[in-house]
Amino acid sequence: MEEHDQTITGHNSLLDMPCHVAIIMDGNGRWAQQRGLPRIAGHQAGMKAVRRVVRACADIGIRILTLYTFSTENWQRPKAEVAFLMKLSEEYARREAAELRRDGVRLNVIGRRVGLPPSVLAALDRAMEETRDGNKLILNLALNYGGRAEIVDASRAVVADYQCGKVDPESLDETTFSLHLYTAGL
Ligand code: FPP
Repeated sequence: MEEHDQTITGHNSLLDMPCHVAIIMDGNGRWAQQRGLPRIAGHQAGMKAVRRVVRACADIGIRILTLYTFSTENWQRPKAEVAFLMKLSEEYARREAAELRRDGVRLNVIGRRVGLPPSVLAALDRAMEETRDGNKLILNLALNYGGRAEIVDASRAVVADYQCGKVDPESLDETTFSLHLYTAGL
């Protein structure tokens, strides 16, 4: 049997498992509606599922777990629901950081910082700092994330590099472009 691959960009060959798993958090509202509960009860239940999934991924040897938590389109939801989701994200960062650290989980956040409430950013930054040495699992939260926004932001970064002479347009290829995506290094 092949040796267990320890690199986070590699492949867990021992159990032939993927290295990186991404989950779109969906169906919270429908879950609640089916039970005659308000949508926010679905989000609360979703948070419990997040805890279970994070623990399971760390246990079975997944190296990166991306949770698509809040999209750039989700701002169009009712104000109260958006506020509740922001509060849940902040509480998760505050309350779970110590346990994540204990379990060897490193928290990482991708997406646009602009637009997120300062208290949410502060809690996430603190949790990322607190868990920075985790080497078992990277928990990647996609927050205020959109695929198109990611491409636009990467393009802006490439243009900025070009303007200060750091990038030659002729040598720009998929690999160098991907270094500017939020997922660089993952
Ligand atoms: C999808 O269900 C869920 C969301 C848009 C939000 C998920 C985010 C959280 C629970 C908060 C933060 C999480 C972490 C991990 C910090 P939906 O409302 O689209 O449900 P529906 O498809 O049934 O309408």
